[in-house]
Amino acid sequence: MADFIYGWVGIAIAVVTIVSIIACGWFLKANTTRRLPVGADPGTTGHLWDGDLAEWNNPLPRWWMFLFYLTIVFGLLYLALYPGLAVYGGVLGWSSAGQHTAESRRWDSRYAAMFDVYLKQDLAVVARDPAAREMGQRLFVTYCAQCHGSDAGGAKGFPNLRDGEWIWGGEPMQIHESIAKGRQAMMPPQADSIGAENVRAVANHVRSLSGLPHDAELAARGKVKFEQVCVACHGMDARGNPALGAPNLTDKVWLYGASEETIIETITLGRNGAMPAQGEFLGAGKVHVLAAYVWGLSRDGRK
Ligand code: HEC
Ligand code: HEC
Repeated sequence: MADFIYGWVGIAIAVVTIVSIIACGWFLKANTTRRLPVGADPGTTGHLWDGDLAEWNNPLPRWWMFLFYLTIVFGLLYLALYPGLAVYGGVLGWSSAGQHTAESRRWDSRYAAMFDVYLKQDLAVVARDPAAREMGQRLFVTYCAQCHGSDAGGAKGFPNLRDGEWIWGGEPMQIHESIAKGRQAMMPPQADSIGAENVRAVANHVRSLSGLPHDAELAARGKVKFEQVCVACHGMDARGNPALGAPNLTDKVWLYGASEETIIETITLGRNGAMPAQGEFLGAGKVHVLAAYVWGLSRDGRK
């Protein structure tokens, strides 16, 4: 059960702990054996301070001594019941991780009824329910905001989820799948396929697709290469392919950026955006409410 790199650390902790407790008991016993008859002179310890300040050599008060023995008994009992010695888990089998799991199970089962109601409803119906939307927003801020932003507005490499443009598809069930199963985008480096000397030309063609300023001559040269290589994933019309997660290159929405340098970087190095799967971690109920919430954020969801 111990998490130390070296096994002997656990054994050392156990030995030092037990030896110290036994030593305390022995020390206490050794120092409390002398009994004084009532009224006898206990003498002094022999130490003198400030010239004539002496200390009576009285035995420890009984009540104090028994309290000390009690702490020793308590310590031994505690170590027998709970995982205090690094090498022994205790008779009760208690652990903080186990307590945490038990508590989350208890809360999950309490919330299950609440989520069950939504699980039986269509995502479009859940998206219109104000209580579910509020719940969805809180879940989003907790589990998704670190990547997509608390307003779902996204950032470079992390898609905006409220603009109505979807890389992996905007149907409620497609969004549900993006969340539950995660998404792994794969654009391999393309400089070899189109020839390194053509990268800038293709980048200019990509910019022309959404009406951005570009060098027309370069773009015309890039178009030829684009139609030989890039259409395989981005489509003949460059409108993307949700099955591959290849973005639409004709809209004005950019995941990584529209500047010539950024597009050249995308073509040269490739891109591998990853959305981690949440299904197992969050459970069906939370994923359902989140999918409805995310779908409801965009124009599609507000129809
Ligand atoms: C570790 C960062 C990270 C977290 C956390 C994360 N996402 Fe994502 N998500 C991404 C990335 C990156 C993508 C884009 C993948 C790609 O390049 O295609 C994405 C894509 C998506 C998509 C598809 C968008 C589209 O245009 O098709 C949806 C929907 C989505 N995320 C929802 C969520 C929700 C809901 C949560 C919270 C439960 C969440 N994400 C948590 C990083 C994250
Ligand atoms: C094997 C499929 C595939 C091929 C071939 C491919 N791409 Fe991509 N492309 C993708 C995927 C998938 C993404 C999304 C990457 C991500 O989300 O991380 C992408 C992303 C991009 C982006 C980023 C868009 C944005 O919004 O920032 C650009 C630009 C791009 N591709 C241009 C090209 C060009 C130009 C070519 C041809 C030289 C090309 N791609 C070839 C699959 C491909």
